[in-house]
Amino acid sequence: MIEFTNVDKVYPNKVKALQNINLKVEKGEFVAIIGLSGAGKSTLIRCINRMHDITNGSLIVDGIEVRKLRGKEIRNFRKRIGMIFQSFNLVTRTTVLKNVLVSFVPQLPFWRKLTGIFAKDHKLKALTALDQVGILDKAYVRVDQLSGGQQQRVALARTLAQNPDVLLADEPIASLDPVTSKQVMDDFKHINQEMDMSVIMNIHHVEVALEYADRIIGVREGQIVYDGPSKEVTDEVLDHIYKGEIDEMQQEILEEGAYV
Ligand SMILES: Nc1ncnc2c1ncn2[C@@H]1O[C@H](COP(=O)(O)OP(=O)(O)O)[C@@H](O)[C@H]1O
Ligand SMILES: [Mg+2]
Repeated sequence: MIEFTNVDKVYPNKVKALQNINLKVEKGEFVAIIGLSGAGKSTLIRCINRMHDITNGSLIVDGIEVRKLRGKEIRNFRKRIGMIFQSFNLVTRTTVLKNVLVSFVPQLPFWRKLTGIFAKDHKLKALTALDQVGILDKAYVRVDQLSGGQQQRVALARTLAQNPDVLLADEPIASLDPVTSKQVMDDFKHINQEMDMSVIMNIHHVEVALEYADRIIGVREGQIVYDGPSKEVTDEVLDHIYKGEIDEMQQEILEEGAYV
């Protein structure tokens, strides 16, 4: 359902963030992307929903060539791709329910946006999404009254209410404590399994990635250096993903005899 073929991404400042990415993700997979900071994880994920344009190659999502989309097509396409951020992106001064209803705003006629009147079926969808992440009882509570973990669940519910085909998440637990992180990861797993929704997540907690994802993609300097089942990730694989650079440096030092 998602296919990268020979994809490069070069930022305007000439940084080569992705180099020759070849990757296929099927419906219902739970994929974790791991790697050092600056490796290209966020760039990879953000190309999928066209937050970034690719420079070379082809990226196909649900049969659509993403780089060819224009204007309104991009907006319609994005509705099908849910995106969750580290920072939640919520309006904290208002209720949980209103934050979830915001996901319907682009679909509403202008007068409804102005008056804040939401259709009954939208409200029902929003409440269902809150139920799916276990915070239905918080629907009428202001977001700033909630814990970080509960806020991330509101963000998740807002994304689910759009009924996307795939869920992208960029470091969704980076600012949460371990207990709350586990709850949020359990939500992702539950959604992945019950709704057969693909999840592609950037995450820097390796143990969490290995525990929850079926498949691990290791990124180093804009390239995929590992792609395989979580079960097969050994210490050597992790060294390869995280420490390749350091190993090369050590090798050079040894060869040059600098420290002898
Ligand atoms: N908007 C941007 N403009 C220019 N360079 C960027 C931009 N975003 C990221 N980069 C650079 O691209 C590389 C990959 O970044 P990123 O995808 O954010 O990595 P990660 O998410 O793995 O930390 C880094 O060198 C980063 O500095
Ligand atoms: Mg990142």
